Amino acid sequence: MTLALAIFSLIAHCAAVPAGAGNGDALVKNAGDWKAAFNKADEFVSQLNLTEKINMVTGTLGFSSGCIGNIVPIERLGFQGICLLDGPQAINRADLVSIFPSGLTVAATWDKDMMFQRGKALGEEFRGKGAHVMLGPVAGPLGRHALGGRNWEGFSPDPYLTGRAMEGTIKGIQSVGVQACAKHYIGNEQETQRSNTVTADGAEIDAISSNIDDRTLHELYLWPFADAVRAGVASFMCSYNRLNQTYACENEAILKDILRDELGFKGYVMSDWFATHSGAKSINAGLDLNMPGVLDTASLETGASYWGANITEYLNDGTVFQQRLDDMVRKIMAPYYLLGQDSSDYPTVDPSLPFSMAASSGVSVGSNISSRDVRGDHAALIRQLASEGTVLLKNSNSTLPLRFPKSIGIFGNDAADPTHGLTYGGEAYEIGTIDIGGGSGTGRHAYLVSPLEAVRAQATKLGARLQHIIHNKALAADDFLGLYPVPEVCLVFLGTFASEGWDRAEYEADWNSTLVVENVAKRCQNTVVITHSAGITTMPWADNENVTAIIAAHLPGQESGNSIVDILWGNVNPSAKLPYSIPINETDYDIPIVNLTEAEVTSPDSWQADFTEGQFIDYRHLDAYSIDPLYEFGFGLSYTTFELQSQLRVDKLVKDPAARPSKAETSTPGGNDMLWETIARVRSRVTNTGPVAGGTVPQLYVSFPQSGVPTGTPLQVLRGFEKVFLEPGQSADVAFELRRRDVSFWDVEVQDWVIPTGSFEFRLGFSSRDIKKTVNVVVRAY
Ligand SMILES: *[C@@H]1O[C@H](CO)[C@@H](O)[C@H](O)[C@H]1NC(C)=O
Ligand SMILES: *[C@@H]1O[C@H](CO)[C@@H](O)[C@H](O)[C@H]1NC(C)=O
Ligand SMILES: *[C@@H]1O[C@H](CO)[C@@H](O)[C@H](O)[C@H]1NC(C)=O
Ligand SMILES: *[C@@H]1O[C@H](CO)[C@@H](O)[C@H](O)[C@H]1NC(C)=O
Ligand SMILES: *[C@@H]1O[C@H](CO)[C@@H](O)[C@H](O)[C@H]1NC(C)=O
Ligand SMILES: *[C@@H]1O[C@H](CO)[C@@H](O)[C@H](O)[C@H]1NC(C)=O
Ligand SMILES: *[C@@H]1O[C@H](CO)[C@@H](O)[C@H](O)[C@H]1NC(C)=O
Ligand SMILES: *[C@@H]1O[C@H](CO)[C@@H](O)[C@H](O)[C@H]1NC(C)=O
Ligand SMILES: *[C@@H]1O[C@H](CO)[C@@H](O)[C@H](O)[C@H]1NC(C)=O
Repeated sequence: MTLALAIFSLIAHCAAVPAGAGNGDALVKNAGDWKAAFNKADEFVSQLNLTEKINMVTGTLGFSSGCIGNIVPIERLGFQGICLLDGPQAINRADLVSIFPSGLTVAATWDKDMMFQRGKALGEEFRGKGAHVMLGPVAGPLGRHALGGRNWEGFSPDPYLTGRAMEGTIKGIQSVGVQACAKHYIGNEQETQRSNTVTADGAEIDAISSNIDDRTLHELYLWPFADAVRAGVASFMCSYNRLNQTYACENEAILKDILRDELGFKGYVMSDWFATHSGAKSINAGLDLNMPGVLDTASLETGASYWGANITEYLNDGTVFQQRLDDMVRKIMAPYYLLGQDSSDYPTVDPSLPFSMAASSGVSVGSNISSRDVRGDHAALIRQLASEGTVLLKNSNSTLPLRFPKSIGIFGNDAADPTHGLTYGGEAYEIGTIDIGGGSGTGRHAYLVSPLEAVRAQATKLGARLQHIIHNKALAADDFLGLYPVPEVCLVFLGTFASEGWDRAEYEADWNSTLVVENVAKRCQNTVVITHSAGITTMPWADNENVTAIIAAHLPGQESGNSIVDILWGNVNPSAKLPYSIPINETDYDIPIVNLTEAEVTSPDSWQADFTEGQFIDYRHLDAYSIDPLYEFGFGLSYTTFELQSQLRVDKLVKDPAARPSKAETSTPGGNDMLWETIARVRSRVTNTGPVAGGTVPQLYVSFPQSGVPTGTPLQVLRGFEKVFLEPGQSADVAFELRRRDVSFWDVEVQDWVIPTGSFEFRLGFSSRDIKKTVNVVVRAY
């Protein structure tokens, strides 16, 4: 969500609260016992009067608390309220927090443990600030559009990879007692017209409608949200857009039929900020918490709301039942008890938050309250995560790792310290390295190590000389005046910014990047290009003979410069793999973002996005149309080499499986338990055959029997991956457990997951286009 804080009133009413940092001892470490939590929630609800219940489900904006959303305290019951803060790569608007690598970067690690560790460290910071809910992680957008403005907040256009990242992140966050929020549910694939708007003559125009067929929803967009539910996520956030013509936050089909009945979600659904568009309708459709409670920013002062006091009317006229209101409150409170947030050692909200929040909205305020520093020792993890999410795409002539160059050049506006301060707004500034995007998912840097700073430190250490030209304008104009001699190695840093609120319009990296690279390469035969990109960028210069290495460093977070030095000089051997495909030509990705001109908006209902490509996005699309990418999904080089030495072995744990899972008796988080049951295991052995230690990611793709499935089935889908680190000559066994869901398709007729009969092909390799071993297995599902 974004806050256009036109009217910012700081109610500096921060009563002195004890800075309880809390020790972690009394924390619930896992999904825990929902039943016991609901019993406590019922007991709580039974003590509330109507006003209190209404306050529990209608949030407030937290200017006084500094939280971006609040549920107000109920003093007489000792309930301190609930504080929600923006994620998902940093606590936005707070001071003395860490800027973590973005979702996109952690997806590129393909490392489940790293996904968990990042979630846990984020959770520790939210807890430290006294927040109860972290607004994240993101599985929507999934990445239908390469240019989507928020793709970097999420993970990957592949639902399996995103699902694993959701699972790890949520478990990490909740392991320290903080509630995670799976967002934005669902179909929030473009920022352009994501919300309703009002024209100059006052007509209300509805938000974009994502029109998604049932099978595509299940196999693509819903898939990672199912993993989120299974991981025990506390809350969901419904999105701004409409889904099949109905706003997500009042869409019974997705909130009730799918999320509750099918996926067995037990926590609560909150609206994205100002995404509630009705009273009784949204309540009855399954929305449990209206955030931030008011209609829009214009009603911040009046408090006008579809909910709030209006709920009394709905109860009186019978459009909402008392039982539903009680149920909303108990769903909100159950995760609070589940995660032990009622414990007396849960930290209070950092009293400095209102001040940093005000500063983030452009209001300069003084404060004599010092910020609570919650960063702990996370800098080391951030540095490691970022280098582990940095993909080496090209390395001709073994240019990298750099050995002892005596003369280094640094070029490009993405290399330097930002000249606009360390808090990004919603637009790109010309000078400054990009380590995170903009909007609600950004964060206030306590510091940022730029590439220029870190490479300079390295050059000083090695006694090398360093020259730099930062202005892309000069570089694009071929103005290299003063550069002498031509450096032995030229490092070109390209940035591509993206933010909530708008979609990227260009596929190439920002600020004339192609001219910049070509002009450097014209004079430097050893040009290394490093991209800091908030999404997919094309690389028209990739085959330039003088571009000897290419690195996609994504959005690395605050240790950016150190992480890239680690890769360039080989302190860290690159092990990341692309979580998307880079096309040769942008025309290879032909799903346009709907972008109507004023003249094209002829009715309130004009904005329609028909997801007619079905499941064919990213590599599924390139595979289906036999289009060669520049660098494919799953690709990434290393300073060593790996081989899969043994044949694939498939252990069928269930010999002839039933085609459909039997009916579940109870609804557990994640829905029918049988979908999560392992029914086969694929095994192999990987060896480091090169000269240095390193990590790689064997990837398992599954091709469904084409005869047994409807049209629209991808040629192959990712269904397993394992990150392995090996010494030279060392081998390790890898095993991939296939759950029933992994080998089923969503049958729209029977409305269930079905294992088709026929020959499955299991394909193991080092990328979606580098399959080393295959094995066919005939499955007779009865
Ligand atoms: C409900 O309780 C609050 C205290 O939390 C009190 O101020 C309010 O008057 C009560 N409302 C009713 C209708 O009893
Ligand atoms: C959306 O509409 C499509 C086409 O009618 C249908 O297949 C799908 O089930 C609908 N989804 C939801 C959640 O209503
Ligand atoms: C009730 O809802 C209407 C919109 O339907 C809004 O104009 C009004 O301000 C709301 N009342 C309150 C008390 O929030
Ligand atoms: C901050 O300033 C207020 C008002 O000037 C004062 O009452 C309070 O004691 C000060 N707090 C600290 C921690 O210095
Ligand atoms: C790109 O470079 C060309 C050539 O110097 C220049 O004309 C153009 O204005 C530049 N564009 C941008 C966006 O800087
Ligand atoms: C949509 O159109 C507007 C106005 O022409 C333009 O500024 C914007 O960049 C476009 N957005 C995309 C994603 O192309
Ligand atoms: C590569 O570098 C050499 C030497 O500077 C130069 O002659 C050549 O034109 C360069 N190639 C390109 C494509 O810029
Ligand atoms: C890289 O290798 C190519 C082909 O072997 C050669 O022409 C070129 O000079 C090499 N460049 C450098 C910087 O060594
Ligand atoms: C991309 O494809 C379009 C349409 O086929 C073509 O006009 C354009 O030249 C291509 N661009 C590149 C860089 O190959």
